[in-house]
Amino acid sequence: MVFSKDFLWGGATAANQYEGGYLSGGKGLATLDAITGGSKNHPRMITFKTQDGKIQEVTREEALPEGAKGYIDPDKYYPSHVATDFYHHYKEDIALFAEMGFKCFRLSLSWARICPQGTEVVNEEGLAFYDAVFDELLKYGIEPVVTINHFDIPMYLADELDGWNNRKTVDYFVFFCKTIFKRYKDKVKYWMTFNEINFLRSWTQIGIHKNDNQHRYQAIHHLFVASAQAVILGHEINPDFKIGMMVAYIPSYPMTSNPEDVMAALEFNRGQEFFIDVQVKGTYPAHKLKWFERENITIRKEAGDDDLLKKGTVDYIGFSYYMSTASSANPENVKYVGGNQQPAVKNPYLVESEWGWAVDPLGLRISLCNLYDRYQVPLFIVENGFGAVDCVKEDGSIDDDYRIDYFKKHIAAMKDAVELDGVDLMGYTPWGCIDLVSAGTGEMKKRYGFIYVDLDDQGKGTLARTRKKSFYWYQEVIASNGEKL
Ligand code: BG6
Repeated sequence: MVFSKDFLWGGATAANQYEGGYLSGGKGLATLDAITGGSKNHPRMITFKTQDGKIQEVTREEALPEGAKGYIDPDKYYPSHVATDFYHHYKEDIALFAEMGFKCFRLSLSWARICPQGTEVVNEEGLAFYDAVFDELLKYGIEPVVTINHFDIPMYLADELDGWNNRKTVDYFVFFCKTIFKRYKDKVKYWMTFNEINFLRSWTQIGIHKNDNQHRYQAIHHLFVASAQAVILGHEINPDFKIGMMVAYIPSYPMTSNPEDVMAALEFNRGQEFFIDVQVKGTYPAHKLKWFERENITIRKEAGDDDLLKKGTVDYIGFSYYMSTASSANPENVKYVGGNQQPAVKNPYLVESEWGWAVDPLGLRISLCNLYDRYQVPLFIVENGFGAVDCVKEDGSIDDDYRIDYFKKHIAAMKDAVELDGVDLMGYTPWGCIDLVSAGTGEMKKRYGFIYVDLDDQGKGTLARTRKKSFYWYQEVIASNGEKL
């Protein structure tokens, strides 16, 4: 048997893409409630009101004018509002996860559901909702794995404080953590602070209006400090907590053996490993400090911050793995294809999904080796999967063999990493184990699930749940602890 008997097989979701109930039960607005749907060719748009009351929109890559406040246009469609409605279907969905044999389920908490404005005012109904969810999971012996914050922030903090650019947001976040750690200390053991911390840069994700490097890295420093404080506090509240970080890991290969390309790949990889260095080793790496100097970036730190970063290092690395990319020093060799939150470079040895994401199972083993060799802490693959268009046949069945094929190869790579490379791997939670809204495009048609949800890109559908072919396949994988692929 390759995997340990307590290996955490499961699936992963995020509140803003799955939960819905955007105003139910006293929830406040979150930034992501003000971003429209989009597609591969049409970006999602943030809708906002300027200081003088004009209604405007920008893409996530653009800055918002000073003083702009998130605005929900009644004539537009916002996929997070209903999403795939976990809020009203959690019992049915958890029963399906249990039927698949899940040992764990990764979900994120909506900060604005628990603290509607993100401040120290707590919404009991929000806390009670997650109590009910955790109780339902535990009833089936499913371990909750909680991402404390996945890609959004209460709108009030973005509107009034400029989000994570403001040090006060750190205090509010720590208050939020204290509230949930105390409340759920006997129900939740596995936590992660910020989802894909290396991707956080837009107003929707961290509430900052200007997103140039100076503002971005100041906000990131605040995220690091907040994460460290959360780790320290969580361990005080329950020493058995396992609190991890979460990074999007996209290994980059040199396009050729030209040392210039090797250096380019090294720099790309450093860009993401920087986030792991700070959260696992507790210090900023020298190359980043040098880069700050060259770019004239000054990070405002408070006395004691360096100490907090050292003390608040994480227990494990959670990471998403979907694809690899390539690096070249010669722009003529670079052709961009679609990618996760940022374009990736076309690798001629790999094929891509319909959304341009390179399929690279060996890249998962390479990632596991890179991360374990470098950090020597347990690893948890908390996202992996294949976004594809699924066809419902006349009899209602869905034969998603392409998804099964993707998972088979990735789990085989994962087995090699454990068996041949000795990687300490805690678990595996494929992304969007039940269909949910795509973060990148806001579409429903880009599906990842073992469970189909009847909803289209305009928000039309019955929300009925159907088991896909991959549901039964994954059920056997879990039952055989990964022996039968
Ligand atoms: C990760 C995110 O970047 O990739 C998820 O953590 C996201 O929120 C997932 O959904 C897949 O990306 P997409 O754009 O296909 O939804």
